[in-house]
Formats: sequence, C-alpha cells, structure tokens
Amino acid sequence: MTDIVVLVSGGGTNLQAIIDRIEDGSLKDVRIKAVISNNKNAGALERANKHGIDALCVSPADYKDRPDFEEGLLKAINDMTPDLIVLAGFLVVLPKQIISEYKNRIINIHPSLIPSFCGKGFYGLKVHEEALKRGVKVTGATVHFVDEGTDTGPIILQKAVEILPDDTPEVLQRRVMEQAEWVLLPEAIGLIAAGRVEIKDRRTVIR
Ligand code: GRF
Repeated sequence: MTDIVVLVSGGGTNLQAIIDRIEDGSLKDVRIKAVISNNKNAGALERANKHGIDALCVSPADYKDRPDFEEGLLKAINDMTPDLIVLAGFLVVLPKQIISEYKNRIINIHPSLIPSFCGKGFYGLKVHEEALKRGVKVTGATVHFVDEGTDTGPIILQKAVEILPDDTPEVLQRRVMEQAEWVLLPEAIGLIAAGRVEIKDRRTVIR
C-alpha cells in the first residue's frame, strides 16, 4: 500500500480525480492518508470530508511567523508518515526542509508542457493566458518530481492538449484539466506506487 498526502489550495478537482480513480478501482494500492490545505476555504477540503478523508488546514495565518508555519506544515505531513506527497494545486512555496526530507517523493501537476510556461509566477490561469498570448497551437500538462527549483524537477508524464481558435484562458484551463491533469496525476501516482518510475540524471525512466 502506498500512503499519500495531498497538498491543496483550491477547488480540488485534481484531488477529486485521485479519489475517483481509487474508488473505481483503477488506482490500486494507494491510500490518501490526509489532505492538507493552507487555505481554510479550499473546496478541496470539502471534497476530502465528503469521502471520509482526513482534511487539515495548516494556514500561515495561524502561526506567528513563516518559520513557525513551515515547521507546522512539516509536522502535519510527518504525522501522516506518507510514502509520497502530491501537490495538487498547492500554491505555497514548499519549504526546503520538506523537499530534502522527502527527496524524490514529492510530485506536482503543472498545467503546461514544461519547460514552456512554467517557473516563478506561472500558476493557475496565468499559465493559459501566456500560452494564448504566445499563440502556441498545443499546450497540455506535466507531472514532475519536485526539487529545490520551481517546476524544475524530473518530468514523469506529459499530455498534449490542442488550443482552439476561440479559446479563452478559462475554456483552455478547463480543457487542460479534463483532458490532461485529471488523467496524468492518478496515472503518475499509480506508476510510482507500482515502483515503475526510476530517476536517472534528472530524467525519469518509466518501466
Ligand atoms: C489547476 O489549474 C492545476 O493545473 C494547478 O492548480 C489548479 C488546481 O486546481 N496545479 P484544483 O484545485 O485541482 O481544481
């Protein structure tokens, strides 16, 4: 059994995709130990509660300063003893201590084909606004391991999505979520749980 902790900040549609695949039996031997959000109003927390999954809020507002918050987040994660940490729309910069303690055991879903439209400031709708502004014909999503950089860790899976002539950022975001994010994230978790993902020279080999 692979125990995962899912870190969220928003509506939780990527979390929902993981829950749905576990519940329909296509994502095997994976258990969500807890969902943790920095945002007490995150819809993702409600989704977790609806499915009987531990849902915690670890908010910077509840700590005296940043180091205290980061310590609280690390403790909340460690208390769940996860095998894998999944960032599903988590908008907080992960503390270095967590990245080093969970080296090669943290993955993130990014709504573009990395290395395009990623890095500092590229999250949520902004990613799709930039893709439309650049006029690319294809975008997509990427699941990658998290390292000390921003969206710079070894890529695990990618899936392309076509951009259509009248796309708005919102329409494009939804298509990328439906056609790519919600497919890739559970698939990547399944591959890792099955021990099929190897990291060599900052790239991955999927067996
Ligand atoms: C999505 O746009 C995803 O690409 C990005 O953050 C957002 C999360 O959405 N990582 P949700 O909270 O999973 O619905």
